[in-house]
Amino acid sequence: MALFGKKDNKEAAKSISELKNFPQHVGFIMDGNGRWAKKRGLPRTFGHREGAKNFRKIVRYCKDIGLKNISFYAFSTENWQRPKEEVDTIMGLFSDYLDDVQELLTEKTRMVFLGDKTIFPDYIRAKMEKVEAETACYSDMILMLAVNYGGRDEIAHSARILAQQVKDGVLSPEDITEDSISEHLYTSGYPDVDLVIRPSGELRLSNFLIWQCAYAEYYFTDILWPDFSPEELDKALIDFDSRHRRFGGV
Ligand code: IPE
Ligand code: IPE
Ligand code: MG
Repeated sequence: MALFGKKDNKEAAKSISELKNFPQHVGFIMDGNGRWAKKRGLPRTFGHREGAKNFRKIVRYCKDIGLKNISFYAFSTENWQRPKEEVDTIMGLFSDYLDDVQELLTEKTRMVFLGDKTIFPDYIRAKMEKVEAETACYSDMILMLAVNYGGRDEIAHSARILAQQVKDGVLSPEDITEDSISEHLYTSGYPDVDLVIRPSGELRLSNFLIWQCAYAEYYFTDILWPDFSPEELDKALIDFDSRHRRFGGV
C-alpha cells in the first residue's frame, strides 16, 4: 500500500499501514502556497489553487493508508488580514470544494468543520452544514477542515459556553475541568492530535489546535504545501513511529 518505496531504505519500504505506532490523529498545516507561486513568478492565488488540488490528493492517500482522524488548517482567524483578492480566491476554492461532496460520500468520509462558521455568508454556511449533515453517517475516516479557525478563539468560545452554564445555574465553577473545556471545542469527541505536519520551513503552530496539540509530536519539512507528497507523508509517519512519547511519565 505504501507509496514510499526507496529500495535502499529498508525502514521506508515497510508498509506504512503496518507501522507499530500509527497516529490516531494527524494535523496538517497547509503552508507555503504563496512561496510556491512566487518561486514560479506566478501570483499567490495560483499557489492556493495548487494547494487545494494537493489537499484532495493527500486526503485520498490518508484514506488509502487507513488514517482515522485527519485535520487540515486551511484558513486562520488571522488570515482575513490578507489582500481581498487573495481572500476571495481562497473562499472561492473552499466553495468549489463544498460542491464536491460526492467525493466524500464515495470514500465514506465524515467531514467536520473546525472554526467559527458565523462569519461566512449564508450560502457558504448552508453548504458547510449540508456537507456535515450528509456525511454524518460515516465513520471510516473523519476529515476535519479548519476554516476561520483560531486556537485561542476556540478556547474562548468554549469558555463562553461554560460561563453561560454557570450563569444559568446548571454548572458550578468547580465542575469546569479539562474535560468540560474539551467538550465544547470544535473537535469535541475526536482524539487529540498525535502528529502535526507543517511544510514550508516555518517552525510554529500559528494558532492551530493549540489545546489539542498539548502532547503532539511535530514533523517539519522545507517542502512547500503544493509539493507535499504521499511519499513525504510516509516519511513523517515513519519518523513518528520511532518517537518515544512519555506524556510526562518516565
Ligand atoms: C498557506 O499558504 C495557505 C493559507 C494560509 C491560507 P500561504 O499563503 O501562507 O503561503 P506562504 O506562507 O505565503 O508561502
Ligand atoms: C498558517 O499559515 C495558517 C494556515 C496554513 C491556514 P500562515 O501562513 O497564516 O502562518 P504564519 O503567518 O506564517 O504564522
Ligand atoms: Mg504562510
